[in-house]
Amino acid sequence: MMTLPTDAASIANDFDLARLPPQFYVDPYPFYRALREQAPVKRMPDGSWFLTRYDDILPVYRDPKVFSSDKKKEFGPKYGATPLFEHHTTSLVFNDPPLHTRVRRVILGALSQRHIAAMEPGLVALVDGLLDDMGRKGRVDLIEDFAASIPIEIIGNLLGVPHAERGPLRSWSLAILGALEPVLTPERAAAGNGAVVEMLSYLSALVESRRAHPGNPDTDVLTRLIEGEADGEQLTEAELLHQCVFLLNAGHETTTNLIGNALHALTQWPEERVRLIAHLSDGGLLKSAVEEFLRFESSNQLGNRITTREATVGGVTLPPESRITVCIGAANRDPAQFPDPDRLDLAREPNRHIAFAYGIHTCAGMNLARLEARIALASFLARFPHFTLDGEPTRGGRARFRGFLHLPANVHGSVAARIA
Ligand code: HEM
Repeated sequence: MMTLPTDAASIANDFDLARLPPQFYVDPYPFYRALREQAPVKRMPDGSWFLTRYDDILPVYRDPKVFSSDKKKEFGPKYGATPLFEHHTTSLVFNDPPLHTRVRRVILGALSQRHIAAMEPGLVALVDGLLDDMGRKGRVDLIEDFAASIPIEIIGNLLGVPHAERGPLRSWSLAILGALEPVLTPERAAAGNGAVVEMLSYLSALVESRRAHPGNPDTDVLTRLIEGEADGEQLTEAELLHQCVFLLNAGHETTTNLIGNALHALTQWPEERVRLIAHLSDGGLLKSAVEEFLRFESSNQLGNRITTREATVGGVTLPPESRITVCIGAANRDPAQFPDPDRLDLAREPNRHIAFAYGIHTCAGMNLARLEARIALASFLARFPHFTLDGEPTRGGRARFRGFLHLPANVHGSVAARIA
């Protein structure tokens, strides 16, 4: 069995994103701390760079001209001429202006506050239905029975995917995002490529039917994406389909993990849980609590950029075409920005976390994710304040997306807890 060296210098020295020890997936934060302290601009064996300090990462996000999101150079060798390559290099997140600007405008138009507010009643009803089902069962999986069921319905509604056709969305999403892991195994590549092909074929039929029967662009996001902006900004067919694939994925696993990680964190921090429950009726703590869950266990832990010219980061000069991994999870635990960073403090203020990144690529769905988390957590805790874990949680086993695959729980609490 691999053992973890205990001193920070050895941890930082041995760190290699391509060969992570099992302990990393359970608790990456000691690794991040060692890197921040010993090697904040860490050169990996493959020549890429790993950044862990908040103050080094922010300037990278701020300067998209020097720190590009265009992944064609990096993904060419990684994926070859495959559906995964075509998908990732067409989606807005892995592009620079001007393509990024054009696509982002259309997406932001479709994810406006008005669209999001219109989703709230449906979201409340959905969550209430899930809570009813869980209440009847007692023993549940907080991921399968709750956290994962919310975003899949919301994103399904967002694009108007009929209920009966939503079954494969979660596995497609897990397969496509799984292929973004630092190490691409042949199995991950095959699953990811298969999922892109199936998703594109499904979505092109959906788009075709929506073109034939357009919805109201004020309320129907897919119609809005098809029609583009009023001043004539339209997406090509391939751009449209790939952004839909991306939206379905971007809004799914990340939000599932936010809700799942938050519920798990509350079982580990009983005093914070009592505090949150005490403030549920006045809503005082809920907003800052969601921000703290986003910081504390960021569901998207890693991001990537490539330098377009020589650049200095944290005092280190990087040559052009340097591949950079920015570690959101480490920046969000940086004591230089967050006092006592390993403590969950639901009232933390200020809390300038970068769970949604920063700069021109800041998450376009962040307000939707926040709304989903607020409603899910408030309703859950109001109904099941005594919930307990009931079995061994199963982690997702990924470096980039941090969350649980299964979180067995008893929503009515253990017998001991109920007697107490
Ligand atoms: C807790 C939930 C979420 C987290 C933690 C999250 C995180 C992120 C991060 C870190 C990025 C920036 C990636 C980069 O540039 O390297 C991003 C981009 C994006 N996210 Fe999210 N996301 C979440 C939920 C959502 C939802 C619900 C949607 C849509 C329904 C969404 C849509 C997008 C889009 C469209 C982008 C690309 C923005 C651009 O490139 O301009 N996300 N997200």
